[in-house]
Amino acid sequence: MNSPFLRRLRVDDATAVLAGFQADSTDMSRQGEVTDLDSARQYITFVTDTAEGNHGFAVVADDDCVGVIGINGATQHRLGWFFYWIHPEFRGLRLGSAAASAAANWALTSREAGDGGFERLELGHRVNNPASGAIARSAGFIHEGTERRKFLIDGERIDVLTYGRLSTDPVPASTPLRMEV
Ligand SMILES: CC(C)(COP(=O)(O)OP(=O)(O)OC[C@H]1O[C@@H](n2cnc3c(N)ncnc32)[C@H](O)[C@@H]1OP(=O)(O)O)[C@@H](O)C(=O)NCCC(=O)NCCS
Repeated sequence: MNSPFLRRLRVDDATAVLAGFQADSTDMSRQGEVTDLDSARQYITFVTDTAEGNHGFAVVADDDCVGVIGINGATQHRLGWFFYWIHPEFRGLRLGSAAASAAANWALTSREAGDGGFERLELGHRVNNPASGAIARSAGFIHEGTERRKFLIDGERIDVLTYGRLSTDPVPASTPLRMEV
């Protein structure tokens, strides 16, 4: 894998985004409705809609988008919902952790026009998705609570663990991915 980095997600990443969703029909089904190129473009348009406070980043490796880190903003509260996914062929390489650290640091420390300027980021993950929790902690998020038995998945109710990171929380020691934004 050549030197990975993070950049803004673009509509011409639609083929790569579709490939990421199609490669993992189980876990990616909770990341959005992407089933063809049109829905991939709609997904990208939504997650990159900065007028709505949304910021979508492509995790680039081997010259292609192999994952997405996103922040869906609630601008009135300077609050963002944080999410991430990595194509199955690129998982386990700490790309998710490094990319999440970079995007969270950017969102909570930028103050330039058009940049993050968030004061709080939050996320939630199913208790049976430990890699997601490891990414959150590595990106400086703090476990805040448990939404008990939130989701009904394959007939079983699953707890969701919630995490938050404030602009006043310490920047984590983990090495962030290089950003080109
Ligand atoms: C969750 C996801 C983003 C992880 O991406 P990744 O790039 O493989 O993650 P990383 O390689 O950075 O690993 C993150 C951490 O999880 C740990 N981890 C990975 N798989 C694990 C597992 N099955 N059990 C426990 N820990 C695991 C790694 O050891 C690493 O921990 P460390 O930082 O302490 O070493 C990826 O699996 C994915 O896209 N899943 C589908 C979408 C999803 O679930 N998104 C999160 C929704 S909340």
